Amino acid sequence: MVANDIKSNLEIDHARPMKVIVIGAGISGILAAIRFTQRIPNLGLVVYDKNPEVGGTWYENRYPGVACDVPSHVYQASFEPNPNWSQFYSSGNEILQYWKGIVEKYDVRKYMKLNHKIVEARFDDSQSKWHVAVENCSSGEVIHDTCDVLYACIGALNDWKWPDISGLSSFKGKLLHSASWDESWNPEGLSVAVIGSGSSAIQIVPAIQPKTSRIDNYVRGQTWIAPPWAATEVRKHTATGSNFKFTAEELEDFRSNPDSLLAYRKRLETEVQSMTKHLFRGQLAEKAASDFKQHMTKLLEKKPEILNKILPSFSPGCRRITPGPGYLEALTEDNVSFISDNISKITEDGIVTADGTLRKVDAIICATGFDTSFSKRFPIYGSGGLDLGERWKNYPDTYLSLSTHGAPNLFFAHGPSSGIGVGSLTIVLERTCDYVCSVIAKMQKDRIATIQPKKAACDSFRRYCDEFFKKTVFSLPCRSWYKRGTEDGPVTALWPGSSLHFVKVLEKPRFEDYDYIYVGGDDMSWIGNGLTMAESDSSVDMTAYLNPENIDYPRSPSQV
Ligand SMILES: Cc1cc2nc3c(=O)[nH]c(=O)nc-3n(C[C@H](O)[C@H](O)[C@H](O)COP(=O)(O)OP(=O)(O)OC[C@H]3O[C@@H](n4cnc5c(N)ncnc54)[C@H](O)[C@@H]3O)c2cc1C
Ligand SMILES: NC(=O)c1ccc[n+]([C@@H]2O[C@H](COP(=O)([O-])OP(=O)(O)OC[C@H]3O[C@@H](n4cnc5c(N)ncnc54)[C@H](OP(=O)(O)O)[C@@H]3O)[C@@H](O)[C@H]2O)c1
Ligand SMILES: *[C@@H]1O[C@H](CO)[C@@H](O)[C@H](O)[C@H]1NC(C)=O
Ligand SMILES: *[C@@H]1O[C@H](CO)[C@@H](O)[C@H](O)[C@H]1NC(C)=O
Ligand SMILES: *[C@@H]1O[C@H](CO)[C@@H](O)[C@H](O)[C@H]1NC(C)=O
Ligand SMILES: *[C@@H]1O[C@H](CO)[C@@H](O)[C@H](O)[C@H]1NC(C)=O
Repeated sequence: MVANDIKSNLEIDHARPMKVIVIGAGISGILAAIRFTQRIPNLGLVVYDKNPEVGGTWYENRYPGVACDVPSHVYQASFEPNPNWSQFYSSGNEILQYWKGIVEKYDVRKYMKLNHKIVEARFDDSQSKWHVAVENCSSGEVIHDTCDVLYACIGALNDWKWPDISGLSSFKGKLLHSASWDESWNPEGLSVAVIGSGSSAIQIVPAIQPKTSRIDNYVRGQTWIAPPWAATEVRKHTATGSNFKFTAEELEDFRSNPDSLLAYRKRLETEVQSMTKHLFRGQLAEKAASDFKQHMTKLLEKKPEILNKILPSFSPGCRRITPGPGYLEALTEDNVSFISDNISKITEDGIVTADGTLRKVDAIICATGFDTSFSKRFPIYGSGGLDLGERWKNYPDTYLSLSTHGAPNLFFAHGPSSGIGVGSLTIVLERTCDYVCSVIAKMQKDRIATIQPKKAACDSFRRYCDEFFKKTVFSLPCRSWYKRGTEDGPVTALWPGSSLHFVKVLEKPRFEDYDYIYVGGDDMSWIGNGLTMAESDSSVDMTAYLNPENIDYPRSPSQV
C-alpha cells in the first residue's frame, strides 16, 4: 500500500509537492541546497548539520597547516571561479570562507538547521517516507521530521576516531586529534608527539615544527611523499620563491581577465585530471615509484636512515597520494625524531614503544584518521526494517555509490565507492548533486512513490569494482582508509575509474537500473487528467513551445 496523495484528476505537469531532507552542510549539502531549490518546483527542503556552521571538512579540520593539497583553482565550484585564491594551495580557512560566501550569495542558509544531528533514519513502507530523529545539539532535545527523499551528504571523512592504543586516556598532557582541534592550544616551546603520516600529519609536522622544542613523529607504516600535484605549474611558483603565494600581478590578471582565469584553471585541471593512468599496475606505476623515490631521497639527504624506514614496497597511489610540501624537510631538523618502532602504550606523561623506551611529551597529536566504514554513523533502517549498518558491516554495497537496494528514496553524496584517488573531486560532487536532482525531478513528474536500484544492479556494480581494482595499485597490500583501514580488504572507498569517468557515468541516470512503486499503486498516474497546467492556470504560457529558446532550428542547406 502506498499513500494516495495525488488525485487522479491533476494536470500532467502539476508539480507534486516533494519534501527533501539533506543531512550535512558541507560542500555536498551546500550544492544540494542551491541546485534543488533552483530546479525542483514545489519543494520543501531542510538541511540538517550537527555543526554550528556550514563547511563540513573545512569547518572541522582546523589543525595548523590545514590546506587543500590539490591546487586551489581545481578545488572550487565550476560555477563560482574565484580570482582571489591567495595561494597555490589554499588554507582550510580560505576554503571555508569561500563556501560560506557561496551560501550567502545564493541565499541558502535559510534552508539550514545547524546544530542538529540526525540520530536515526527509518523508512516507512506504508507511507513511502523517511522518518528521521534529529537531536538539537544545544538542548539535547530530539525532534522528528519526515520526507520523501533523504540525501545523505555526511562526508566520507567525517567520523574521526581516537587510535586504539592502550593507555591513551590516561595521558595527563594535552591530547588532540587533527579533526577535532583546540585552537586555543599553543605548541610554543612544547615537546609534542605526532602519531601518523597521512595527509593530516604531514601538514601538521612542518606547520608546528618551528615553534616546538621537539617533535616525535610516530610512523608505524610506510608511505610515499609525492612531489606536488600539477608539478609543472607549481614549479613556476616555487621558482619565484613566493611561498606558493600568487603575486599581485597574477591576482590582478585573474580579477580583470576572466578568460585568463579560465585558461589557468583549465591548465591546472588538465594536469590533475590526467594522472589516473599512473594508478594501473605496470610500467607507469613503476615510473612513478622511481620518480617519487628520487624526490624523497633528495629531501632526506640529511637523514638517509629515515628513507629506509618510510619507503614503501607498494606502488604510489595504493594509499592516497600525499604531496607534503615541507614534511620531509621538517623530519630532517635536529629537534625532530622519526620513530618507527611500534607504540606499545601511552602513559600519563608520554609514549612507550615496543622496546620499552618512554619518551615524555607535553602533548600528543593523533593524526590518525577517520572511520571510513560507513556502517557506524547513525542507524539507518530501510524497507521492512533492513538495518543498513549491519548489512554494510563487511562491504558497503551500492549502486554507483549513490543508492542501495533495500533503502528506497535514499541517496548518498560522496558515499561508499565514491572517492577519487587522483583527479578532481569537486566536479564529481557537483555532478552527483545534479544526478540526485534529476531523480527527484523524475519522482515528481512521474509520480513515483519509491525508487531504489535493482539488487542485480548493485551486485553487478560490486563485481565490476572487484574486477576493476584488481588491475590497479589500490588492491596491493598496504593499509589505507580506501580499504576501511585494512591491508588486504576490498577497496570500499574509491570510485572504480577516473574522475572524468565518474562524471560521464553521472551525466545521465540509467533509470532502467531502478525499481519503482507509483503513487497510489497506479502506474498511469503520471499521465494525469488529459490536460496541462497552462489550461487551468492563466499565468502559464500556453504556447511556450513557440518561444525561440524552445525551438530547435534545423540547419538550412546553405549552412550544411
Ligand atoms: C583535512 C582534509 C583535507 C582534505 N583535502 C582535500 C583536498 O585537498 N582535495 C580534495 O579533493 N578533497 C579533500 N578532502 C576531502 C573532503 O572531505 C572533500 O573534498 C569534501 O570536503 C567533502 O564534502 P562533503 O560535503 O561531501 O562532506 P563533508 O565536508 O565531510 O561534510 C559532511 C557534513 O555532514 C555533517 N554530518 C555528518 N553526519 C551528520 C549527522 N548524523 N547529522 C547531521 N550532520 C551530519 C557533518 O557535520 C559535515 O558538516 C579533505 C578531507 C580532509 C578531512
Ligand atoms: N588535502 C589535504 O592535504 C588533506 C589533509 C588531510 C586529510 N586529507 C584527506 O583525509 C584523508 C585522511 O587523512 P589523515 O591523515 O587524517 O588519516 P590517514 O590517512 O588515515 O592517516 C592516519 C595515520 O595514522 C596512523 N595511525 C592510525 N592509527 C594508528 C595507531 N593506532 N598507531 C599508530 N599509528 C596509527 C596511520 O598509520 P598506518 O599508515 O600505519 O595505518 C596513518 O599514518 C586523506 O587521505 C585525504 O583524503 C587531505
Ligand atoms: C576579489 O577581491 C576583490 C578585491 O578585494 C573584490 O573586490 C572582489 O569582490 C573579490 N571577488 C570575489 C569573486 O570574491
Ligand atoms: C535548540 O535548542 C536551543 C537551546 O535550547 C534553542 O534555543 C533552539 O531554539 C532549539 N532549536 C530548535 C529548532 O528547536
Ligand atoms: C627546533 O628547530 C627549529 C628549526 O628547525 C627552530 O626554529 C626551533 O627553535 C628549534 N627548537 C628548539 C627548542 O631548539
Ligand atoms: C609492529 O607490530 C606489527 C603487528 O602488530 C608487526 O607486524 C610488526 O612487525 C611490528 N613492527 C616492529 C618494528 O616491531
